[in-house]
Amino acid sequence: MSELPVRIAPSILAADFGRLADEVRAVERAGADWIHVDVMDGHFVPNLTLGPVVVEALRAATRLPLDVHLMIEEPERSLEAYVRAGADRVGVHVETCPHLHRTLAQIREAGAKACVVLNPATPAIAVRPVLGDVDQVLVMSVNPGFGGQKFIPGVLGKLERLRQWIREAELSVELEVDGGIGPGTVGAAARAGANVFVAGTAVFRASDYAAAIADLRKEATAERPR
Ligand code: DX5
Ligand code: ZN
Repeated sequence: MSELPVRIAPSILAADFGRLADEVRAVERAGADWIHVDVMDGHFVPNLTLGPVVVEALRAATRLPLDVHLMIEEPERSLEAYVRAGADRVGVHVETCPHLHRTLAQIREAGAKACVVLNPATPAIAVRPVLGDVDQVLVMSVNPGFGGQKFIPGVLGKLERLRQWIREAELSVELEVDGGIGPGTVGAAARAGANVFVAGTAVFRASDYAAAIADLRKEATAERPR
């Protein structure tokens, strides 16, 4: 099985929301692979961000895949609206999905790639039963809700375990890491087996987006296990 490529996914949570379309176009020009979109409901996480209307506006601004991270309770009630709005990939937290296979199937039926997400304290084993039913696993390396938090190194073992299970089963599953990713942590996450790197602060708070993305890609590529 061939390795999936390194992908850098800037998180618009750290962008200037007053100029969102320009910000997205700027990171597209700067070499981003995906746009990571954080949807928060003020219940599952203590912050409130955006809904399908904003996803639709992002869809009109870029051709890049929209990687929509749903930090919401009962995601099965609204996930189709995000796909209709233009989400290419939809992530749901295992902590919010008592009927996980059903919700993941619902994402695929709606026409998007299915991603399952784990909080830092949720063990890898919680998603092992669905590895054959997803396109992507997202390992949170901070507790979700805010940008700019510190990377939790305890998640590295979880990335390693997931990569090993994905390999052993010869699956093609993107392994994504989100939270506190920047120079100094992206390499460790790559070494542990991640291939998709979400970065909010490290990209949107940099003065040169292209240089920030290139640096992340370089460090991740250099540290990937062979
Ligand atoms: C956290 C979000 C992240 C966040 C990452 O709840 O899921 O996507 O934007 O921000 P940084 O890269 O600043 O940690
Ligand atoms: Zn996110």
